[in-house]
Amino acid sequence: MKVLTVGGGGREHAAVEAFHRSGAEIYSLMKNANPGIIKRSKKYKIADERDIDAVCRFAKECGAELAFIGPEAPLEAGVVDALERIGVKCASPTKDAARIETSKVFMRELLEKYNIGGNLGFASFDRAEDAGSYIEGLNYEIVVKPVGLTGGKGVKVQGEHLHSFADIMQYVNEIFDNNIGGAGVIIEEKAVGEEFTQMVFCDGTAISPMPLVQDHKRAYEGDIGPNTGGMGSYTDADHLLPFVTASERNEALSIIQKIVDALRKEGCTYRGPMYGQFMLTADGPKIIEINARFGDPEAMNVLPILITDFTDVCNAMAGGTLSGNVEFERKATVCKYVVPEGYGVVSKAGLPISVNEESIEKCGAFAFYANVDRVNDELVTGTSRSVGVVGIANTIEGAESNCTRALEHVTGEAITVRRDIGKRELVQRRVDRMNELRSLNK
Ligand code: AMP
Ligand code: GLY
Repeated sequence: MKVLTVGGGGREHAAVEAFHRSGAEIYSLMKNANPGIIKRSKKYKIADERDIDAVCRFAKECGAELAFIGPEAPLEAGVVDALERIGVKCASPTKDAARIETSKVFMRELLEKYNIGGNLGFASFDRAEDAGSYIEGLNYEIVVKPVGLTGGKGVKVQGEHLHSFADIMQYVNEIFDNNIGGAGVIIEEKAVGEEFTQMVFCDGTAISPMPLVQDHKRAYEGDIGPNTGGMGSYTDADHLLPFVTASERNEALSIIQKIVDALRKEGCTYRGPMYGQFMLTADGPKIIEINARFGDPEAMNVLPILITDFTDVCNAMAGGTLSGNVEFERKATVCKYVVPEGYGVVSKAGLPISVNEESIEKCGAFAFYANVDRVNDELVTGTSRSVGVVGIANTIEGAESNCTRALEHVTGEAITVRRDIGKRELVQRRVDRMNELRSLNK
């Protein structure tokens, strides 16, 4: 089958490998020359991923039968709607359905309207002064977010990044003054607990779960520093996480099912992978955000252990025929992103990087290329995350050790990694913290 993929990051490289394993003929469009994607593509095009005309022209030229859109920006631009108009089936949501991610206000209001559990207190504002008076009247800690898309980097949390009312207002003003996200500001109740990601495949009605993943958004070891798109992530062999019980997981799945049902009732049926970011609090899972796509890095954890044929799964999502559960190997995975120094603040980019794929595979790991580019025949870093390295084994510890050994085979100038991800101490800290929160609630 001829499959068009859009996007040039680590998540899309992982998807392309899964399509390749299932025998698809791959055509790819991306803004950077990702060598991992290029290697598997019959033909590729470097273009703006949000350029609807360019995407449709390329889809026609290749005779694409099915399209998969990795990142959120082309979804927001309406790439799926345009592809469907020219008869290409899509395993990704339309512009209207993708509002579940592209507008945080739409998401929170949908939860409210359909009385779906896991919501948090929130209000959105078009003027800094109004946000200020609202915040003064609250008796809980808050999180400040731009309403629109910011690649996961626009969120600031009281008690972590913001320490006083003055700090909060300074950031609110900065969002308006610099038009960050482009759509105003949302003030949310701060949820306290441990975060986990529940992704599902969705065909408009039915969902099928993927293994739970824990991502690490903070830039530096010990979970400090600015929020990033995600520095690395792990999964466990039982597809739960050491600090999440099966019933807590089921609660998250039931919230996602209700969101899918609500979107259908709103006339914007959702087809494609859906991503739920939850905070597991003493009071159960609360929704931090819903994304209209696979997570990045989370896709790199789950897709390499996917057993069911990926092209079949995508066809079923696109066609509304998902039935039975999609299967994954019972393996643990640890992904660590090699990023340019300064990532999250100001990246040192445009420097050479080299990846020895063969040696990495010998360590029981895979490398997924992300925001790298080829300049004068040399692979160089971009300003975002460079290469995801994923170790796979029977336990988290084993996967972490494979990943760490494999990381030695990524070399370059001014690159760095959060080494603590997936290590026993960090995982244990999460388990202890969750136990403590649960005991406080008793
Ligand atoms: P987002 O881009 O919305 O996923 O936010 C980035 C990160 O900010 C999340 O992964 C959380 O760590 C944190 N965060 C966002 N919203 C909240 C919230 N309501 N309560 C606590 N932490 C939050
Ligand atoms: N890992 C976070 C995201 O993909 O949004």
